[in-house]
Amino acid sequence: MQIIGADQRESEKTPSPSAGIVTELRKWRKSQDSDKVIGLVPTMGALHEGHLSLIRQARRECDVVALTIFVNPTQFAPGEDLDSYPRTLDTDLQLAQKEGVDLVWLGNSRDLYPTGFATRVEVPALSDRLCGKSRPHHFGGVCLIVLKLFQLFQPTKAFFGEKDLQQVTIIERMVADLHVETEIVRCPLVREDDGLALSSRNVRLTPEDRQRALSLSKALFAIEASWRGGERKVQTLVEGAFEALDPGMELEYLELVDRNDLSPIEGEEATGDVAVCVAARAGDVRLIDNITLEFLS
Ligand code: PAF
Repeated sequence: MQIIGADQRESEKTPSPSAGIVTELRKWRKSQDSDKVIGLVPTMGALHEGHLSLIRQARRECDVVALTIFVNPTQFAPGEDLDSYPRTLDTDLQLAQKEGVDLVWLGNSRDLYPTGFATRVEVPALSDRLCGKSRPHHFGGVCLIVLKLFQLFQPTKAFFGEKDLQQVTIIERMVADLHVETEIVRCPLVREDDGLALSSRNVRLTPEDRQRALSLSKALFAIEASWRGGERKVQTLVEGAFEALDPGMELEYLELVDRNDLSPIEGEEATGDVAVCVAARAGDVRLIDNITLEFLS
């Protein structure tokens, strides 16, 4: 497994005299045979089973698998958890090696956002809802870094988890709008055995908050059960979910949305491709989760 950027890490105060992660990556990309299927798995590290499922899917579908690890500062607002975001590089590298990743690329702000950096990439129509209401800066930062990665890696396919349903929806829109050749592959959300959606932030939950956080998936499963029972009234579905939510959770939103564009379900009854999206805080950890109802009868 090749690693680019190990000598350029954020923590290294003095940049080493090596070429820099952008130049090295371009060299790597040019060295790849043009007929190879290149798979990209962008991450912020602190890898868990959800990330590993993306890597495994990439491994199945691609000749070459590249993993990026970079806690991207432009998708965090001041006061958010950029500094406390979990960083577990040594373990991440071991996991990547075990999963047969070909290249790990470690980003750093010095090379990615040099002095004078001024460009923005926005998909406002999809970014202003759900998480975008409380994190208006967030998806612009995500689009910026993802587009940069697509420019640099020129991947045939890129793999994103549906745990971040809004993120993958926005990235698909950006790729279609800007004629980016990369195919976006959606991978299913992965849960712990007890239902908690996997997230790098879960390690920051206290045992009590983790217990409270379980009520997020319980709320979604309550909606799923009513839906399977034939309930379609939005208000009734949502009320059932509220009952399952632990009162100690600070709810940000719980919404039934059209799964295609994440717009709120307008009528009294939910029809079509419906997703339920939720965001809430357990202690100081913000968590998101979602479930799709479209295929359930
Ligand atoms: O989903 C994430 O981990 C990040 O938002 C991503 C896509 C790696 C961009 O920083």
